[in-house]
Amino acid sequence: MAVNADTTKRTRILSGVQPTGILHLGNYFGAIKQHIELQEEGDGYYFIANYHALTSLKDPETLRKNTRDVAATYLALGLDPHRSVFFRQSDVPEVCELTWLLLTVTGMGLLERAHSYKDKTAKGIKPNAGLFTYPVLMASDILAYQSKLVPVGRDQEQHVEMAQDMAASFNHMYGEEVFTRPEPRFTQTPRVPGTDWERDEDGNFLRDEDGHRIPQKMSKSYNNTLEIFAEGKALKKAIGRITTDSIPLDDPMSPDDCLVFELCSLFMTEEELEDLRAKYEAGGFGYGGAKKTLIARIDDTFGPFRERKRELDRSPDTLEDILQDGARRARAEARKTLDHARQACGLV
Ligand code: ADP
Ligand code: TRP
Repeated sequence: MAVNADTTKRTRILSGVQPTGILHLGNYFGAIKQHIELQEEGDGYYFIANYHALTSLKDPETLRKNTRDVAATYLALGLDPHRSVFFRQSDVPEVCELTWLLLTVTGMGLLERAHSYKDKTAKGIKPNAGLFTYPVLMASDILAYQSKLVPVGRDQEQHVEMAQDMAASFNHMYGEEVFTRPEPRFTQTPRVPGTDWERDEDGNFLRDEDGHRIPQKMSKSYNNTLEIFAEGKALKKAIGRITTDSIPLDDPMSPDDCLVFELCSLFMTEEELEDLRAKYEAGGFGYGGAKKTLIARIDDTFGPFRERKRELDRSPDTLEDILQDGARRARAEARKTLDHARQACGLV
C-alpha cells in the first residue's frame, strides 16, 4: 500500500535548528545559508527543534525568546514561508508518537554508540533519558515528512545515519515501505572559527603540523560567538574581543595565523582574499585594519536584512501566524505517515 508515495516531483528537504541560543556566524555559514538556498532546489521543511532543546534548556522564558529569535532570524534572512513549510517542532505532536514506534525498533547498542551523547557525558553532563533518545526524536522528525535530503553539519552525520537504520528496521520488520530513506547533505563550510584559539587544559595553544595555532570552533558553548544580527557598538565590541597578536603596526602580519583573516575569508572571493593577504604581508595595516574590514563585510552581508529582523522582533503575532500556518501543513504530512506506521505495526 503506497499511502506515502511522494506525490510531488520536488525533493523533500528537511532540517531543524535548536532554539538553544542566539544564532551566530557558525550557524549561518554551517546551516542557515544552505537551508535558505536549498529552497530553490526542492520542497523545504524547516523547523525549530524546541522538543530537542528541552533536553538541555530548562528556562521557559529563554526557550520562548530563543524560539522567536530563531523564527525571526530565518525569516529575515530569506526563508519564504509560502515556498517552504516553516514550523515549531512541538506544534506537530505526531512526531512524539512516531518516536515511540521508532524506539521499539531501535537497539540500545545503536544509541549507546552515538558520538554526540558520548561527548556530552564525557564532558560531565548528567544525561536525562531524553538526551539518550535524542537521535530517535530526530529520526522521527526526518521520517515523519518522508524527507529525502537532510542538510546538516558533519556533527549530525551519525544522527542521519541512525534515521536511515531506523527507517530500514521498521520497513523490514513490518514488510512495508512506510518510510523513505533520507540522505544527508553537508555544508561547504565545515567549521567556522570562533573568536579565540583552541587550548589544552593548561591554557597552551594547540597547533597543527605547520605549527599554526588551531582556531576554536565557534559555538555558544565556548562563549566565542559573533551573532548574525549584532550591529553598531555591539558588533564592534564583539569583533574587538577576537584574539590577535600584539606586534608593531608597520610589521607584516601572518594571515595564516590570524582569526580575523579566517573570518574574513567566509565573506570573500578568492581574489578579495588575495588582496587582503597582500595587505597583511605588506605591513602598516594592523589588526585594527583587519577588524574594520571584517566589520564592513558583516555590515554588507547582513545589513540589508536588519530592518526586517527588527520588524519581525516587534511582531510576535506575525511570527506566530507564520509558524501556525507551517504547523498546519506539516501536521497533515506527519499524520499521513503516522497513520501508515500505526496500521503497519498493528495498532489499528
Ligand atoms: P552551537 O555549537 O553554538 O551549540 P549548534 O550545535 O546548535 O551550535 O549548531 C546548529 C548547527 O549549526 C550545527 O549542526 C552545525 O551545522 C552548525 N554550526 C554550528 N556551529 C558551527 C561552526 N562553528 N561551524 C560550522 N557549522 C556550525
Ligand atoms: N539535532 C540537530 C542539531 O542540533 C537539530 C535537529 C533536530 C535536526 N531534528 C532534526 C536536524 C532533523 C536535521 C533533521 O543541529
